[in-house]
Formats: sequence, structure tokens, C-alpha cells
Amino acid sequence: MKVTAILLAAGKGERLGASVPKCFLMLAGKPIFMHSFERFFEIADEIALTVPQGYGKQAMLTILKRFDHLKHLDPGKDDEATLESSDKRIRIVRGGKERQDSVERGLRATGHGKVAAVHDTARALVSSATIRKVIERAPAIVAVPAYDTLKQVNKKGVIEGTLDRSKIWHAQTPQAFPTDMLRKAFDRARKKKTRGTDDASLVEKLGVEIAVVAPDGPNMKVTTPDDLRLAEMILSNR
Ligand code: CTP
Ligand code: MG
Repeated sequence: MKVTAILLAAGKGERLGASVPKCFLMLAGKPIFMHSFERFFEIADEIALTVPQGYGKQAMLTILKRFDHLKHLDPGKDDEATLESSDKRIRIVRGGKERQDSVERGLRATGHGKVAAVHDTARALVSSATIRKVIERAPAIVAVPAYDTLKQVNKKGVIEGTLDRSKIWHAQTPQAFPTDMLRKAFDRARKKKTRGTDDASLVEKLGVEIAVVAPDGPNMKVTTPDDLRLAEMILSNR
């Protein structure tokens, strides 16, 4: 079964507040996005990597240095590049304004896989086992059950009630769907102007059942400077 991966690295990283876009910061010797890229390279037949404006060339050079059997096609277009070997196709594309726009651009740049996995490369610790598991179960997302007690709080900062924790999961990535299903969900969202903070929220609107699978190993997202230090610590102990 052919697999497409849409790897997101086009965010600014405002909450991290560095001078470089978050996924291009160095983590354990390589840019954050490259950790996920290497994992997906083992598994996907086709990859679209979304990058911030002005970062296409840097992404391309990092990938070419690591996988030197790839050929660089169509040089010259800013931020857009295609890298290819006999059995892989990598598209580097400029991301959109919000995450959802970036996924849409990634989907437009790909088209070979039967299943498409969308992943935030800010989740740099993702394991191959996690990726394989969610693809196998598609439509499915990686998620973790809530461990803390969850309060619903009003605008004044006062508790309104306690949620039933047993039914609450935190959505992570990767999230994998039959590619046709994902396209249908994104087409519908564009027509109806619906926005979602993850991919499943758009696919849910099609009325299909989506499974949750727990990650194998840590799968935290680097959001703040503390997260970056924590990820560095976890990787240095591997
Ligand atoms: N992302 C993207 N295109 C965007 C916004 C986000 O490709 N327009 C990607 C990010 O690079 C990240 C993932 O989506 O891998 C999840 O987003 P988030 O963790 O929120 O990253 P940022 O948007 O970069 O961070 P912040 O919200 O703090 O600015
Ligand atoms: Mg963001």
C-alpha cells in the first residue's frame, strides 16, 4: 500500500519566540523538522514538507545532505522543490497562513498514496512504531487519554463544572486517513469555510469513525523553550 506523508514545518513558533521558525531550530544536532522527516522517510513513498517562506532551500539542502541518493528536479522556484529517487518522491512546498492551509497545500502537492498521514514535525520524538500503527489503523489519530481532572471554567476564571475524564483524549499527530477521505474532508471544509485545529476534526464532519491509538514512546510537541530543553534531554538519553 502506497503511503503519503504530509509533514508540517511551516509555523512561526510564536510561543517559542526564537528568531528562527520553530521547526528549523536545532535539536540534538539537526533541525527539528528533520527528526520526523527521517522517521517518515523509512515508511512513506511520497512526502510533502511544508516550510515557511524563505526556508525551502535550507530544507532541501538538509535533506540532500542526509539522503545523497536523491536527485533534485526543477531547481530555481523559490521555496518549491522536488527531490526524487527511484522509489521516493519528496515535494518541498511553502506552507499557508494557518496549519489547515499548510495541510491543504501539502495535499495539493501529492497524489500517489492510498493512505495519507499528516504530522506536526514539532512532535520531533515520534517513533516509527507510532507511525506504522496509526497508518495501519487509518482512519485513526494518535492520542493520549487525559490523566488530570478536567474543569470547565467561565470567562471570569471560575469553575462551572468537572468533565467526565474517562471520555477525554488529547489529540496528537500523526493522523492517518484514506487519501480520498482526507481530500473530501478538506474540500468540504473549504466550501463551508470550516476551520479545525487538527485534521480529524474536519474528517469527523463526514460522519466516519476515526480510531484513537496511543503513541509508542514519548510524542510531545515542542511548543515552548522548556519543551525544547525537555526534548533535548530525552534525545540525549537515547
Ligand atoms: N504549521 C504549519 N503551517 C502553519 C502553522 C503551523 O505547517 N501555518 C505546523 C508547525 O510548523 C508545526 C505544526 O503545524 O509543526 C503544529 O503547529 P504549532 O505547534 O502551533 O507550531 P507553530 O504554529 O509554529 O507555533 P506557534 O503556534 O507557537 O506560533
Ligand atoms: Mg500554531
